[in-house]
Amino acid sequence: MPEVPETMRAVLLTGHGDLDVYAFEHHWPVPKPGPGEVLIKVHACGLNNTDVNTRPAWYSKSVSSGTTGRQSSEAHQADATWGGAAIQFPRIQGADVCGTVVAAHDDSGSDLLGRRVLVDTWLRNWDQPMDLDQCGYFGSECDGGFAEYTIADARAVHAINSSLSHAELATFATSYITAENMLNRAQVGSGDMVLIPGASGGVGSALVQLARRRGASTVALCGEQKSAAVAALGADAVLPRNPGDLRTELKHAIGRDTVTVVADVVGGDHWPQLIDALARGGRYTCAGAIAGALVHFDLRTFYLRDLVFIGATIVPPGVFADLVDYIERGEIKPLLAETYPLAELVKAQQAFMAKRHVGNIVAMVDHEVSTA
Ligand SMILES: NC(=O)c1ccc[n+]([C@@H]2O[C@H](COP(=O)([O-])OP(=O)(O)OC[C@H]3O[C@@H](n4cnc5c(N)ncnc54)[C@H](OP(=O)(O)O)[C@@H]3O)[C@@H](O)[C@H]2O)c1
Repeated sequence: MPEVPETMRAVLLTGHGDLDVYAFEHHWPVPKPGPGEVLIKVHACGLNNTDVNTRPAWYSKSVSSGTTGRQSSEAHQADATWGGAAIQFPRIQGADVCGTVVAAHDDSGSDLLGRRVLVDTWLRNWDQPMDLDQCGYFGSECDGGFAEYTIADARAVHAINSSLSHAELATFATSYITAENMLNRAQVGSGDMVLIPGASGGVGSALVQLARRRGASTVALCGEQKSAAVAALGADAVLPRNPGDLRTELKHAIGRDTVTVVADVVGGDHWPQLIDALARGGRYTCAGAIAGALVHFDLRTFYLRDLVFIGATIVPPGVFADLVDYIERGEIKPLLAETYPLAELVKAQQAFMAKRHVGNIVAMVDHEVSTA
């Protein structure tokens, strides 16, 4: 095993605010694994909206706008995280780690030594792993992967055999387990027609691939300049992000004006049209609200059409192992838009927030020259 240094390069979130709350440290202490934990040398770490949302405290119930990545004067620190609590600073964010295990505290992680791994993004009480009330998020309730080393419970660390690059492997974790959990909870299967807003994004593109993987058909909504890339993922139809009259557009595209499932991470002003496109008994599953969390909800559509609403956030154990299997079998493909060196995490997050990309953006941790 390579020698582990005492200090490392790391990006710290030092408080809530705009991008200047990130600090790049050259000599931050390398964490020491505790009982049951392993030390991972991070190769690459994907970006995601949990980091963007937490930085300006967007999760606070006091904020009413969609995700902007800018600090809001409304935001309260007391409920600033996804789980409705305060965050401890400094915090190393970054949930989507691809790395190699270089040390284990004890036998529980010894079979992982030297293996390339992905990390389940959900922290669990491993005595009661099905208790979803006792969960945290990697890079939120503990330090994550925007650093040269990170630690994780060995039971959350999955060895992977794949010819994909470190950066490609770092595109999957958050988006794909979120998408798979949405589809599991809505019991999506062959025979379903799934409408997917935000289909060019991390979760949306995962939904297109994972719904298709289980035999469902998909209609994707995305920015028009991204529609060719989304169609290439296997969407049966691709419509513009704001399609005017959605039901009319659906009729043109798929021959009927309703779908059986809406799998949504966008919300916002167009939300009533999504709900109105659900057939009787249709299911609405939601894991995000990037365009706005407060929506206009006509209860009559809900009850008169016998709709089912399903929230989806905490992913039960087992789904991450399924994801690793899908990757190893080549059933889903990575959508790597861009990479940035760790030292340029702020630039990477600016590009991530600009939303000109399809798929995900990744910070490269071990392919850069230290400027220290
Ligand atoms: N509950 C969970 O555990 C969980 C997990 C992951 C993500 N999420 C949430 O799900 C949401 C999407 O995540 P993601 O990783 O898929 O995001 P992403 O990669 O940033 O993609 C979001 C996509 O939404 C579309 N969009 C439509 N209206 C938008 C607007 N007003 N502002 C920005 N984008 C808009 C954009 O595509 P077009 O330009 O093509 O329309 C964009 O590519 C976020 O709110 C995130 O916090 C939740």
